[in-house]
Amino acid sequence: MATKIYIVYYSMYGHVAKLAEEIKKGSSSVEGVEVKLWQVPETLPEEVLVKMGAPPKSDAPIITPNDLAEADGILFGFPTRFGMMAAQFKAFLDATGGLWRTQALAGKPAGLFFSTGSQGGGQETTPLTAITQLAHHGMIFVPIGYTFGAGMFEMEKVKGGSPYGAGTFAGDGSRFPSELELEQAFHQGKYFASIAKKLKSSS
Ligand SMILES: Cc1cc2nc3c(=O)[nH]c(=O)nc-3n(C[C@H](O)[C@H](O)[C@H](O)COP(=O)(O)O)c2cc1C
Repeated sequence: MATKIYIVYYSMYGHVAKLAEEIKKGSSSVEGVEVKLWQVPETLPEEVLVKMGAPPKSDAPIITPNDLAEADGILFGFPTRFGMMAAQFKAFLDATGGLWRTQALAGKPAGLFFSTGSQGGGQETTPLTAITQLAHHGMIFVPIGYTFGAGMFEMEKVKGGSPYGAGTFAGDGSRFPSELELEQAFHQGKYFASIAKKLKSSS
């Protein structure tokens, strides 16, 4: 049976969505892996989103908490708000109490990816503070570590991401993921899928 990977994200301006698409390509490149993209529900009213200059959402379906239980591995992606995950994503996770009660997600591998506006704005604190969510659900955090290799040591050009997962810098919103950041996202998808597949086949 195929290993089912869910990539679940929130993206207001499209940066996290772009990483999610690339991660999907990476996961899909692993044989015997099925990948599905999902987004979490928006919590802000349309008039606020308009004032914030948010473009229309992608066409990824909206996930409900119970959908998570079907996955063999889940990658969670979100933009930073004051160094932590956006409230939209937290609101979704706050609705997973039923899954927590039965520990339905326990033992499933989980990865994290993220976008910040600036350097020092949360490329490490955003995933680090998200680990509490995984711990309470009993999920197995799969960081990318330094498996991306030389790309982790890029010093000439600005590059998002960290050992915790793939990332990008949105800047004032006009900067979109660089080639190297997209390569890292692809790598995360592939690396994570290979681990999820191993875990599934050994269970
Ligand atoms: C209320 C608010 C708080 C934010 N806080 C941070 C922050 O602490 N650090 C940072 O680097 N960027 C911060 N940002 C910028 C967002 O992280 C940026 O818009 C996001 O990474 C873009 O991703 P998206 O296109 O997927 O929405 C903030 C943005 C908003 C609206």
